[in-house]
Amino acid sequence: MPVNLKGKSFITLKDFTPEEIRHMLDLSKDLKAKKRTGSKEKALEGKNIVLLFEKSSTRTRCAFEVAAFDEGANVTFLTNSQMGKKESIEDTAKVLGRYYDGIEFRGFKQETVEILAEHSGVPVWNGLTDLYHPTQILADFLTVMEHIDKPLSKVKFVYVGDARNNMGNSLMIGAAKMGMHFVALAPKSLFPAAELVAEMREIAKETGAIIELTENIEDVKDADVIYTDVWVSMGEEDQFEERIKLLSPYQVNMEMMKKTNNVDVIFMHCLPAFHDQNTVVGREIKEKFGLESMEVTDEVFRSKHSVVFDEAENRMHTIKAIMIATL
Ligand code: CP
Ligand code: NVA
Repeated sequence: MPVNLKGKSFITLKDFTPEEIRHMLDLSKDLKAKKRTGSKEKALEGKNIVLLFEKSSTRTRCAFEVAAFDEGANVTFLTNSQMGKKESIEDTAKVLGRYYDGIEFRGFKQETVEILAEHSGVPVWNGLTDLYHPTQILADFLTVMEHIDKPLSKVKFVYVGDARNNMGNSLMIGAAKMGMHFVALAPKSLFPAAELVAEMREIAKETGAIIELTENIEDVKDADVIYTDVWVSMGEEDQFEERIKLLSPYQVNMEMMKKTNNVDVIFMHCLPAFHDQNTVVGREIKEKFGLESMEVTDEVFRSKHSVVFDEAENRMHTIKAIMIATL
């Protein structure tokens, strides 16, 4: 069946079939090749896009902007709108939908991006909420396809750390859809919500995916991918102490990489990462808790296993594909 995503919002991967996800990945690959050849074709000429940000960003904002510029669209970056303070999200959606062809939102509540999608009348793209980060997943899977010579359905993908955050949730959804072997390796208190796991295991019955939750580090054995994210997500900054206690045994280090028993295992991280002392927060953590790094050691981050900057580049190509497919 031909895939048609025109007019559709991108707010969680739950809303997309495996064929639709595959279509966006294939389009990303084509757009990446097109950029490499310097093609001047512009698929979004004359389109206007607004980027609403409640939380900080480097990759997501820049990926949306460059993707839009490459394809001839105009962009407004908005961080200090009236939304939620003096004007409801619904009214804001109705206004923005009159000006713009597409809306990106990054912020706290998933509900906000859903209300924007319901009332704006234009495609809305989720650039990260507390619950999900779906644009990141396309970049991650494109990176896996580039580095691992196996179909996604044969990949053992281990996500280590805070498995109930936006990345843990979204990777599990993406993996369930694409028939992958997904392992959430975390202390029990940071496992993804039971309802979401049950929902993904239902999807897995159709796609052949395996969704595993474990506290045992030995279960990284035979992993193709070791993926981690920050221990404390944006908006949870009061939880460093507790998370450090819970997650220190789950730090991605060379010992863990060796336990995979796979010399070709790749290391992935959505970034930003606390792998050294070159950040304000990294230095505060060192002073307070004596840690040189948090979720990943500098050694792994800079090793031959690490594909984190390919992953970051792929944010742009995949976001471009999402915008082109839905506009
Ligand atoms: N990975 C990611 O979303 O990065 P930013 O927070 O810099 O956008
Ligand atoms: N879980 C992280 C992802 C950052 C891209 C956060 O929400 O801060």
